[in-house]
Amino acid sequence: MACNKALLLVSLYCLYLPVTSTKLTTLLRDKNLTSLKERLTNLEQTIERRLNVTEVLLGQLLTGRNGANLETLNVLSLRSQILRTAFSPVLFSAYKSSSESGISTNVKIRFEGTYINIGNHYHTEHGIFIAPVTGVYMFHWTIITGGTGYTTQLMVAGSSRASSYVPFPGGADSSSAMVIISVNKEDHVWIQIYGSSKHVYGGSTSYGNNQSTFSGILLQKT
Ligand SMILES: *[C@@H]1O[C@H](CO)[C@@H](O)[C@H](O)[C@H]1NC(C)=O
Ligand SMILES: *[C@@H]1O[C@H](CO)[C@@H](O)[C@H](O)[C@H]1NC(C)=O
Ligand SMILES: *[C@@H]1O[C@H](CO)[C@@H](O)[C@H](O)[C@H]1NC(C)=O
Repeated sequence: MACNKALLLVSLYCLYLPVTSTKLTTLLRDKNLTSLKERLTNLEQTIERRLNVTEVLLGQLLTGRNGANLETLNVLSLRSQILRTAFSPVLFSAYKSSSESGISTNVKIRFEGTYINIGNHYHTEHGIFIAPVTGVYMFHWTIITGGTGYTTQLMVAGSSRASSYVPFPGGADSSSAMVIISVNKEDHVWIQIYGSSKHVYGGSTSYGNNQSTFSGILLQKT
């Protein structure tokens, strides 16, 4: 694009102006025209050499390639490419807003409320997080229960990828777990119980408010 080149020339002109103006004063005082011609030629070559170096570097920076031709570079399409690949954060923090009894194996625990749901990839109606991109994610969950102890599992696309045991509660007990794993785009991630007819505390009870939580964050796209 001609305007790229023009911009570059203007900025270079500004850069060189302080240097060239002092040199020109000296040149104008010099009556030896042979010397004047030599020095102008030299100056021209220096500017051309440095302009070449600047164009090569700028081309590499903008495109990541050697030998990018700045004159044919489409700045607008380059910009949209950069925006498309930019990292958009994915983060949710959900809580159980009411207690639930009689939950058995293969039933998703529904965390009905969210403190934070950046990107809206956690779905309160089902208790499922749907990965928007393939990447490395960190998940954390805390379950508080009364009744009998049981295992909770973090499920990714139907397979248990991490688990945590809530010990046999004398009144109530809780357990937390954290895992960092790779998840594929569109995979469903949820927490479920291994056992039958279990209890999960949520909402406001004598044990506090919103005790059971489920959170996740995208650490890195892969
Ligand atoms: C003019 O400059 C040239 C190149 O620097 C030099 O060879 C020549 O002797 C100079 N002439 C005079 C008259 O000073
Ligand atoms: C600058 O680049 C042009 C085009 O690649 C080339 O023809 C020219 O010789 C280069 N000039 C210098 C001083 O390196
Ligand atoms: C759970 O947390 C939400 C968000 O902070 C709050 O609005 C709600 O009142 C809490 N529920 C209870 C039972 O404390």
